Amino acid sequence: MWLIKKAHVVDPAQGIDGICDVLFDEFILAVGQDLNGEDFLDSSHRLSVIEADGKYLFPGLIDVHAHLREPGREDKEDITSGAKAAVRGGFTTVLAMANTQPVIDNRGLVEYVMSRGEQAQGARVLPVAAVTMDLKGDALVNMAELHKAGAVAFSDDGRGVQRAQTMLLALQYAQLTGCPLISHCEDESLAKGGCMRRGFRSARLGLTGIPAAAESVMAARDILLAQENGGKLHLAHLSTAAAVAALRWGKQQGIDVTGEVNPHHLIFSDDDIGLTQTCLKVNPPLPSAEDRGVLLTALVDGTIDMLATDHAPHTWEEKARPFPEAPFGINGFETALAAVWMSLVEPGKLSVSQLVRAWSLNPARRFGLAGGSLHVDKPADIVLFDPKHTETIGQDVWLSKSTNTPYWDKEMHGFPTAVWVGGSLRDAALRDAAVRDAAIQDAAIQDAAIQQTGRERPSC
Ligand code: DOR
Repeated sequence: MWLIKKAHVVDPAQGIDGICDVLFDEFILAVGQDLNGEDFLDSSHRLSVIEADGKYLFPGLIDVHAHLREPGREDKEDITSGAKAAVRGGFTTVLAMANTQPVIDNRGLVEYVMSRGEQAQGARVLPVAAVTMDLKGDALVNMAELHKAGAVAFSDDGRGVQRAQTMLLALQYAQLTGCPLISHCEDESLAKGGCMRRGFRSARLGLTGIPAAAESVMAARDILLAQENGGKLHLAHLSTAAAVAALRWGKQQGIDVTGEVNPHHLIFSDDDIGLTQTCLKVNPPLPSAEDRGVLLTALVDGTIDMLATDHAPHTWEEKARPFPEAPFGINGFETALAAVWMSLVEPGKLSVSQLVRAWSLNPARRFGLAGGSLHVDKPADIVLFDPKHTETIGQDVWLSKSTNTPYWDKEMHGFPTAVWVGGSLRDAALRDAAVRDAAIQDAAIQDAAIQQTGRERPSC
C-alpha cells in the first residue's frame, strides 16, 4: 500500500487542484488531508510513505492514438518496447492503431495485441481494430466480433476512409458496439504526393504541398454523416482551422463528435521544416503558424477534447531518406509530456488541470476506459510528476526502439518520476529514489516472509 504525502494533486473529475495526500493499493483508497493509512492496514499489507513536496500527482495519462508496429515492423517498435516507453512518458493506457502488418482486422490479431500488452508490464495496451479489411476502404470488418474480443475503437488510421458510403455504414455498425469510430481525415485525391502543408514554406523548399482542405473536407464530411445517421465520431490529429470550425459547429448541433490534437501540431509549424528535418515530417503535416494558434485556442476552450501523441516510430534508415521519400511520423511517448510542459504549461498557455483533463479524464470518458480520475475505488493508475526533473534525451534514457524525435540530444524537463498501473509500480518509469528505496525494501520484506512461510510470491 502506498501513501503519497503532500503532492500537488490534480484531478479535474473531482475538482481537486491542491496539496493533499493519496492512499492506494490496487485501487484508490483515499484522497485527502493528513492521511495516515492506519485505518486501511491489515496484516497482509505494508505501508510505503513517500513525501512528495514540489511534485504533482495526477491520474495516469491515456493516449488514444499510438502505433506500436507489432505485428510486422518489430524493427521500429514492438508491443513490449512501446508499452514500456509509454509508461516512462506517463501513459498508463495506450490505444494501439490497426495499421500493422498484417492489419488488425480479425479476432486473432485483436486477441494477440491484448495478450502481448498484458505481458509487457508497461502501460495497458488496448487494441483499435481497423474499419475496413486490410485498410483497403471497401469491406467492413466484423465490428461486433472484434469489439467482443477487446477492440475499444475502430480506425483505418494512416489512411482516411475515402468513400462516404463506406464511412456512413461504418458509423452505423460501430453504433452496435458503442465504440467510437476514429477518423483519419485525409482526402487522398487532394493529399497524394504531398509531403508537407502547402503554403509559402513548401514553395520555398520546393516540396509538394498538401492543401489544408485535404483534412478539412473529410472532417466536415464525417461530421455530416454522423449527423445524418448517428454514431460516435472521433477526429484524429486535427491540424487545420477549418476542421476545428467544423468540429465546433458539429458540437453546437448536438452531433456526437470529439477531436484530438497532437503536441507536435501545437508546438511546431511548417516554418520549422528544413529539407533534412524528416523527424518533423508527419501526417497530417505540420500546420501553418496561424492554424497552430487556432488549434491551441480550441484545446483551451474545450472544442478539441483531448491530447494524443500519434506515437509513430520509424527506423533511422527510413528517416534518413530525402524529405519527400521519408515516412510520415514522430516518436512521441517519452517526450510528449515534457514537450507540452515546457512549451505550453510553463509559459501559461495551458493549465495543469486542462492538461490532465485533455490527456486523462476526457479520453477515459470518450472511450469508456478505466482511469481518468482518482476517485476512490478506481484502479490506481497514477503519475508522480516532477516539473524540475531534467534529462538529456538520448540512448541512456530511451526505451523506444526508434529515435525519430526532434528532441534527440536536447535537454528537457518535466518528467514522471514514478508511475503505477493498477497499483503496480512500473520499473520503466521509475526515476524517484525514495520510491525506488521503498519498493526495494518492500520486496526484501516479502522475500523474508516467503522464506519463513514457504509460500509462493503472489503474482500480479
Ligand atoms: O505521421 C503519421 N504516421 N500519421 C499517421 O497517420 C500514420 C503514422 C504512421 O503509421 O507512421
